[in-house]
Amino acid sequence: MLSKEQIKEKVGYEAAQRVKNGMTIGAGTGSTAYWFIRALGNRIKDGLSCRAVPTSLKTTQLLLEQNIPVIELNAVNALDLVVDGADELDAQLQLIKGGGGALLQEKMVAFSASRYIIIADESKLVAHLGRFPLPVEVIPYGYRMIQERIESRYGKIVSLRKKGETPFETDHKNYILDIAFQRISHPAEVAAFLKTIPGMVEHGLFLDMAQEAIIGYSSGEIKPLQAKTY
Ligand code: 5RP
Repeated sequence: MLSKEQIKEKVGYEAAQRVKNGMTIGAGTGSTAYWFIRALGNRIKDGLSCRAVPTSLKTTQLLLEQNIPVIELNAVNALDLVVDGADELDAQLQLIKGGGGALLQEKMVAFSASRYIIIADESKLVAHLGRFPLPVEVIPYGYRMIQERIESRYGKIVSLRKKGETPFETDHKNYILDIAFQRISHPAEVAAFLKTIPGMVEHGLFLDMAQEAIIGYSSGEIKPLQAKTY
């Protein structure tokens, strides 16, 4: 039986094998993406040439430590491949992301991808999205108005994410509100509603974006899932 960390290492390694010479890729954020970047670093040592757009400051640092050339999103037209983790994914590869607070850059980078692959251990696969609280990035000014609007529409608890006693700040100095849905029956409706709120910067529903997921199991098995064919 593999531990969760060993599963993450395995799916990270698997995804790193998809990177081809000369590619410009996007590198995700989180403990699963970490293993992808480590494995990619090993391939760079072995002579692979590629460059990567990071999805967070933490990932930038990790890429540099692994001697993977870093490039800004503004300096590229499109990305050949983006690899990232997720907090939840369903059988249609609809995602909740943002547990690490990097959802804004993660979604912009994913949107630029010709191919967007999610790597995850089996615990992230769910029948319905929503048990993981849905992160919403908001500007600090007037965030309570946003919190109240979401609470009154859905009757769910919306919490300001904290780091110790103070609000958690994203790389872009915004706040995160976490919505305790438990179950999101109509993700597209939620995404559309959130988009109507001024000051809402981005939400963690990544709908119709991923083409493939690489799922690792404690048995050591790895199964690729394709969007909408599963
Ligand atoms: C960060 C994210 C991460 O991809 C997500 O939280 C999964 O992280 P991990 O691989 O550590 O479980 O969305 O904003």
